[in-house]
Amino acid sequence: MEVYEGVRTLLAVREFKSEPVPDDVLHRIIESARLTGSSMNRQPWHFIVVQNRDTLEQLGTLVSSGKYNAQAAFAVIVIIEKSSPFGLSDASRAIQSMVLTAWSEGVGSNWTGWVGMTQVATLLGVPESLEVIAVMPFGYPVHNRTQGKKRRKKLCEIAHQEKFGQPFS
Ligand SMILES: Cc1cc2nc3c(=O)[nH]c(=O)nc-3n(C[C@H](O)[C@H](O)[C@H](O)COP(=O)(O)O)c2cc1C
Repeated sequence: MEVYEGVRTLLAVREFKSEPVPDDVLHRIIESARLTGSSMNRQPWHFIVVQNRDTLEQLGTLVSSGKYNAQAAFAVIVIIEKSSPFGLSDASRAIQSMVLTAWSEGVGSNWTGWVGMTQVATLLGVPESLEVIAVMPFGYPVHNRTQGKKRRKKLCEIAHQEKFGQPFS
């Protein structure tokens, strides 16, 4: 899939088929996180791949904004070093790499988190010096929505030409 086409059509996926994701696809998704550029190339991140169904169900319970983690083929827990001022920015880039790589393979995903992250860290034995910032469920989407119909602000509302307030056209 061409990159812009991926960005244009990408949607948050919250319902997954029970079909497993092949290992080579899973590996490309994780590899895309590893290959992502980070500030000063520090790579202040860790990624836990969860495929165990019981653990996925526990993640669905702990992350109240992402109950559908329970149905995912697998989830990637994204973790940053608390001491890194760039951890959140760096890991957010890695997340987008994974999401787009998955989408290009027909695999849907979404960012879930902000609630239950401390409990997720405890469940998975994440050390105190690290912080869980996202739980990313992955799987084949139940609904085939690839037309790129999105609710977004108009370009002229958020893009400016030369100076702030002059709408980009
Ligand atoms: C930082 C961040 C946190 C998010 N947290 C959640 C979440 O906890 N649960 C959820 O279902 N979606 C979550 N989302 C997904 C957004 O709701 C989604 O990107 C937005 O509604 C646009 O969806 P669309 O691309 O399908 O139009 C999150 C997205 C981002 C970027």
